[in-house]
Amino acid sequence: MFKKGFIFGAATAAYQIEGSTNIDGRVKSIWDTFCEKKGNILDGSDGSIVCNSYKDYKDDVRLLHELNVNSYRFSIAWGRVIDENNQINPKGIEYYQNLCKELKKYNIEPYVTLYHWDMPQWIMDKGGFLNDEILELFSHYVDVVTKSLNGLVKNYITINEPQCIIFMGHDTCLFAPGIKYNDKEMLKAIHNLLKCHGHAVSIIRKNVKNSTIGFAPCSRPMIPTNNNPILYKKCYEKYFSINRNFEYANSVSIYSDPIFLGDYPKEYYLQFKDVLPTITKEDLELISQPIDYIYQNIYTGNYYSLDKDGNLIQNPFDFGFREGNIDWLQVVPEALYYAPKFLYERYKKPIIISENGLCNVDFVSLDGHVHDPQRIDYIERYLIELDKVAKEIPVEGYFYWSLFDNFEWNSGLRKRFGLVHVDYKTNKRTPKDSYYFYRDIIKRGGVNWIL
Ligand code: GAL
Repeated sequence: MFKKGFIFGAATAAYQIEGSTNIDGRVKSIWDTFCEKKGNILDGSDGSIVCNSYKDYKDDVRLLHELNVNSYRFSIAWGRVIDENNQINPKGIEYYQNLCKELKKYNIEPYVTLYHWDMPQWIMDKGGFLNDEILELFSHYVDVVTKSLNGLVKNYITINEPQCIIFMGHDTCLFAPGIKYNDKEMLKAIHNLLKCHGHAVSIIRKNVKNSTIGFAPCSRPMIPTNNNPILYKKCYEKYFSINRNFEYANSVSIYSDPIFLGDYPKEYYLQFKDVLPTITKEDLELISQPIDYIYQNIYTGNYYSLDKDGNLIQNPFDFGFREGNIDWLQVVPEALYYAPKFLYERYKKPIIISENGLCNVDFVSLDGHVHDPQRIDYIERYLIELDKVAKEIPVEGYFYWSLFDNFEWNSGLRKRFGLVHVDYKTNKRTPKDSYYFYRDIIKRGGVNWIL
């Protein structure tokens, strides 16, 4: 059982669900641009219609209410509320105000992500996170949002998955904007992104009474396969390590150490001597202002053991190992035990799982229902692990990703993570079996009843 008041929620993000990309003054985002280029999106789709949440937000809230969640995590589209002249777009503001008012009617607490990857294209054209002007532009945007949602929203998540923004957007280039950076540019962009976070924290604290603030990176933890304390320690160390030669922009500590510990890890200074950005004491103070939670998006992990010489080795997944319908998503429930444990051990802040979910092959059956036993099993397995770690460290909440099937970035509309099935032609929404399963878990306050 989770403790009383546990945050049970579902999560979405603006570009993935809203649709209506060309109306009411919304300006183009980097994802609109990215989708235009043939070959970038698996099925050639884009976010122009998806779940139609811009129009059907009342139905979204009804579905949340019937799901019994007490919280809803969604994001604001920067380009809906601020136009190309950096002026406020009242229509965009009104949409988010209406959504929040509707949530309040049903006592559903909003958790607002300020940046879930959809940078306005005109800001990217100025250089995005590489141009210091971003600090002022982002601050203005955050000021506008927090003032206009004052009294409606107190929980903010500044930035979602910096790893995907920087690593996927500028290293693999599989995500928008798909512009390759060299190491020097990467580090500068990371530093500015962290400063944007810092400015957002100052502004939220100033504008919002009793605010709660977090930052939502993702991670793929190393799972020890036995109880050997040396193995545990090595997994922990690897989880927080940085390697200049291997996907460093995808690492944990490069983003979270400055925020929670007040500085980049030692390894960062050692390995990147020749490409360091300017980092001042004031920057680090700005970035490390106290925040309330460690949010974390966790879907999967990798198993590790020690070889006969005591070296850490990754165990390959057995052939046919349980997995979701997307290549990176193996079903590794222990991830929800070890990642929170490692994170708490290092950063000492309560944990909220801001995303966790399964991509599955879901369609409407002849009986009119959507049967998704794999997702039910996934939720059950992962919540059992979260429940276990919640007995050892403070765990405050869990958001399932996602409320709906939606636009899964470069995989387009072919990959379904939702508790609610969406027919993209008719916008018919059909709650899946897992929707009812999760509803019942919430009603009972946890998964222990299953054991
Ligand atoms: C996260 C992302 C979400 C969602 C999810 C499933 O990386 O924050 O927007 O797409 O993964 O892949």
